[in-house]
Amino acid sequence: MNVLVTEKIDTMQHKTSQKLLITELFFTETYLQKVFSIEQNVAEYTKHKIDMVAHFAALKAVGESCRIPLQYYHNNMTGTNVILEAMADNNVFKFVYSSSATVYGEPKFLPVTEDHPTGNCTSPYGKTKYFTEEILKDLCKSDKRWAVVSLRYFNPVGAHSSGCIGEDPNGEPNNLMPFIAQVAVGRRDILRIYGSDFPTSDGTGVRDYIHIVDLAEGHLKALEKLRNVAETGFFAYNLGTGRGYSVLDMVHAFEKASNRKINFEFTDRRSGDVATCYADASLAEISLGWKAKRGIKEMCEDTWRWQSNNPSGYATK
Ligand code: UD1
Repeated sequence: MNVLVTEKIDTMQHKTSQKLLITELFFTETYLQKVFSIEQNVAEYTKHKIDMVAHFAALKAVGESCRIPLQYYHNNMTGTNVILEAMADNNVFKFVYSSSATVYGEPKFLPVTEDHPTGNCTSPYGKTKYFTEEILKDLCKSDKRWAVVSLRYFNPVGAHSSGCIGEDPNGEPNNLMPFIAQVAVGRRDILRIYGSDFPTSDGTGVRDYIHIVDLAEGHLKALEKLRNVAETGFFAYNLGTGRGYSVLDMVHAFEKASNRKINFEFTDRRSGDVATCYADASLAEISLGWKAKRGIKEMCEDTWRWQSNNPSGYATK
């Protein structure tokens, strides 16, 4: 079974370590900014008789998407369309899509189930994920050969337990966990906590953090489903743990894992942040046989192993 995996080219520069994670998959150096090269790449890779595509190549920074929306719509949506067209041209109809909990917008109820309304997204990034899901639904309606699994990620964190593969954001991290890790390792002085007056147990925002290896395993389960089940259509699954942790919970867990003090200060809320968001992940367990196994202790320990081994990220290699 051959799976074509798309990734952004900057994350493709560490193929040896990626092979550690998912050995049996094919990787392609698809760079979605150059959409035309995708067609060439997909055509080239069909020499390997591709059976399924797992599509990861997307831009994902909420703030950046507000500054450069056209690049987000181009990369995340046009790029995906080109891949889908190239797949159909080559008779490949099984697709695993990297979606996000952002498609739910501000949760109307908790935990968030897959039938929670989607589409009330506040950022261009969120809209690209929502619009693409709508495209995928229309595609499945139009042609019964398509089988699509859309995985709605909650807050992926952590690193591979080898300490060789981890998160290495360009510039200042937008997300909490890499920021905490960089403060712990001494690359940044202080974590700014956005808001201390949310209606949560300690006033800071609550999220459903999921270990990146659990997330990767969710993709393998989705690919297995597509390989084994004859059923076609559009399926969406939440990938989360079902548990929410506050920003302060994460800071304290990281201090314990790293044995370092994390300096922090409270600042104003970040625009667009919701108080609390966590998943009901039971559908993925029932339908895919997948359940997150790793807790925040492991998320923090693995992040710390990666960050302390690679204080400047991949640049140290
Ligand atoms: C965002 C996106 C989500 C995406 C995820 C990972 C939205 C609404 N959310 O999630 O779709 O999957 O990024 O790319 O589009 N925080 C701080 N200080 C910081 C950074 C974060 O206090 O320096 C707080 C935030 O206010 C929040 C929590 O930490 O309460 C998590 O933030 P973050 O890691 O950025 O993820 P989300 O905003 O939840």
